Amino acid sequence: MIGGVPRETAEGEKRVAIVPESIPKIGQLTIEVEKDAGAQAGFPDAAFVEAGARVVDDTKRLYEDADLILKIQVPTVDEAARFKEGGALVSYLYPLNNLPSMKKLSERGVTAFALDLMPRISRAQAMDTLSSQATLAGYRAVTMAADMLPKIFPLMMMAAGTIAPARVFVLGAGVSGLQAIATAHRLGAVVEAYDVRPTVKEQIESLGAKFVELPLQTQESQTSGGYAKSQSEDFYRKQQELLAERMKVADVVISTALVPGKKAPILISEDAVKGMRPGSVIIDLAAEQGGNCTLTEPGKTVVKHGIVIRGPLNVPSDMAPQASQLFSRNVASFVGAIVKDRKLNLDTQDQLVKDPMVLLKGEVVYKPLKDALERNN
Ligand code: NAI
Repeated sequence: MIGGVPRETAEGEKRVAIVPESIPKIGQLTIEVEKDAGAQAGFPDAAFVEAGARVVDDTKRLYEDADLILKIQVPTVDEAARFKEGGALVSYLYPLNNLPSMKKLSERGVTAFALDLMPRISRAQAMDTLSSQATLAGYRAVTMAADMLPKIFPLMMMAAGTIAPARVFVLGAGVSGLQAIATAHRLGAVVEAYDVRPTVKEQIESLGAKFVELPLQTQESQTSGGYAKSQSEDFYRKQQELLAERMKVADVVISTALVPGKKAPILISEDAVKGMRPGSVIIDLAAEQGGNCTLTEPGKTVVKHGIVIRGPLNVPSDMAPQASQLFSRNVASFVGAIVKDRKLNLDTQDQLVKDPMVLLKGEVVYKPLKDALERNN
């Protein structure tokens, strides 16, 4: 069985789905890597060859040869059209946002697994690319902020007197938010954090930060899968007002709040930005989903009302060597669950296989995608 690793073609994507160290671990597959696929992540073709992979110079051939394509970014329609009839795919898919590619993959009879639909269960932790990549993004958000803030983070006592530590406020304490809290704390900042799910209080406090409680009704804030639930407009309006008060004393705000399948909730209003101290910094990690701040411009750094607002996109790609390494370990682990005796061997009753499975031999098995494609016809 041949596993194909294409060079990522999305703009700004430097990562590669499989790195050389994983190749012996996915021994069930003979790996073919597209020429220069790992070059921008610091993995030259020679390192893949040394690890036992074949390097293929021709994209067309790579797709034709591969029984299973291992990828990061959603295949474009053109890439989907290159798939071997009846082939398989493991990648981020965000199927509801990518109907034309899903349709093309289905026409090619592909069996496709969406890494973004991996269940949040303990057995799936080693396969959870969302977590590994979000952890790195949380770290990076803090180093970006530290770099842009015209102040130092830690308390310093000198002969000239004492300098107070910077104050960092983290909104959303999921995987990236918790890593941002830990990193800002390590750099010496005074850290506060808030999340709509009150269950995270203990985790925030264990990282040395203060949990900010807002007088809001949030009984139904969490799904059974541990994700946040969408709230009413009235809730978000009140939340913005209360958060604005807390933001007045923050030097840095790092926002990470997401609700699966929805646009990012707006937590930071223009008034809240106006109320911040000049020179303060907002890093909006939710920019890819539109942003948590109403003034965020995804992919850009803007200065509004004296506040620097940065909405970075694809942050893990900034740390391509390690992001690829972690992604690759996650994927190798998932491949171990779906490939046996050098063939796809799917236990479709197993949540680990069933949840991320979007297409099975071309048939749309992910119900929300089936509905969306029917509506679109
Ligand atoms: P996410 O990226 O979907 O959201 C980030 C954070 O934003 C969440 O903590 C969410 O509660 C928060 N949020 C949403 N709306 C908000 C609002 N209006 N105000 C403030 N905060 C808001 O979530 P992520 O990071 O993917 O984690 C979701 C959950 O899954 C967490 O409980 C995490 O611990 C759990 N998890 C479990 C895993 C496993 O068991 N295998 C692996 C990874 C995460």
